[in-house]
Parts: sequence; C-alpha cells; structure tokens
Amino acid sequence: MEISIIVAMGSNREIGKNNDLLWNLPVDMRFFKETTLGRTVIMGRKNYESIPPKYRPLPKRTNIVVSRNPDYEAPECYICSTLQNAIELAADLGEEHLFIIGGAQIYELALKEVDLDHLFITHVEAEFPDAEAFFPEVDFSKWTKTIIHTEEAGIENAFRFQICRYDKA
Ligand SMILES: NC(=O)c1ccc[n+]([C@@H]2O[C@H](COP(=O)([O-])OP(=O)(O)OC[C@H]3O[C@@H](n4cnc5c(N)ncnc54)[C@H](OP(=O)(O)O)[C@@H]3O)[C@@H](O)[C@H]2O)c1
Repeated sequence: MEISIIVAMGSNREIGKNNDLLWNLPVDMRFFKETTLGRTVIMGRKNYESIPPKYRPLPKRTNIVVSRNPDYEAPECYICSTLQNAIELAADLGEEHLFIIGGAQIYELALKEVDLDHLFITHVEAEFPDAEAFFPEVDFSKWTKTIIHTEEAGIENAFRFQICRYDKA
C-alpha cells in the first residue's frame, strides 16, 4: 500500500486557523477531491470536525478518524485510537493508496512515524500571519519534486499556488 500526505500550506507552512482553512481555492479543492476519490483518507478528530456536516464523511472515500476518545462517534466513519491502527485498518480493507489528510497533529505524527511514499503539497504563495496550525518542517533534500500544476491568482483563486508531488528520493 502506498501512503501519501496531501496538504495545502502558505509560505510559512500555515495550514489553518480557528479549526478552519485560511483560503478558498476551488482549483486546489478539486485537485484534492480528484486525487483522493475512491481512496481511504485518514484525518485527525479536529480536522473531521472542521468539515461542514453536509460534506462529511467525505463522499466516495473511506473515512478514518483518529481520536484518543474510544467513545467518539462520527457517522459512517471508522474511528481509530492511533495513527498506526488507522493505517493497519486501511491495509486490511485492501486499500492500495492511502491519503493522510491532516490536520497539524496528524501530519506531525505521520512525518515522524510513517514510511511515506509521496507528499502532495500545494504551496500557496502568500503569508498568513494569524495562522494557528502549521505543517511540520520537511527536509526536502530527501524528496524529488514534480510540479503538477501552477495556478495564477485570479477571481476564483485569490492567491498564486503550485501543486507539487514529492516522491521519496
Ligand atoms: N491546509 C490543509 O491542507 C489542511 C488540511 C487539514 C486540516 N487543516 C487545518 O488543520 C487544523 C486542524 O489541525 P489540528 O492539529 O488542530 O487537529 P488534527 O490533527 O486534525 O486533530 C487533532 C486530534 O487528533 C487526535 N490525535 C492527535 N494525536 C493523536 C494520537 N497520537 N493518538 C490518537 N489520537 C490523536 C486527537 O483527537 P481527540 O482530541 O479526539 O483525542 C486530537 O485532538 C484546522 O485549522 C484545519 O482546517 C488544514
């Protein structure tokens, strides 16, 4: 099973504020949807709660929520008490490409504990000084970068961004 992280971050690795995103970038949202569709996604409990109820569980994907609370309930989602258990569950379900979709705590765990194959990173070319959640620092010398898409700032997407895939070097 391949394991990837997928994230969008600002110039200073900003990813969120008030348990919400910092931007509305429809082109990036479409990329996220197309990339994860049909796959298993693992998310932290706070990330799950940040998704508006009408959009969760993320449709046409197997949703796994990681929480230390064994009584936590998320309709039509699997709940796992550790990231490792969540990964084992995805493997047991026959997943071939698993996506770890955040937030900050779960990304940090994944970068420390998981043998990742790819990072799908959308680099949003702007700074967000009031951000509260950040992606961990990454040693990019260990990864080979491919630019998948460049989007210029415009009416629909307020900031310029590049969607990149990093493969383990
Ligand atoms: N820009 C992006 O691409 C992106 C993507 C995803 C999320 N985000 C943003 O990230 C923010 C949320 O991130 P976050 O760091 O606050 O929360 P999070 O990582 O989504 O979830 C944290 C929760 O996960 C569970 N958890 C963490 N470590 C665990 C462990 N070792 N074992 C078991 N469970 C564990 C705990 O749940 P319990 O408290 O229930 O035990 C913890 O409260 C939001 O602002 C969201 O919008 C941004």
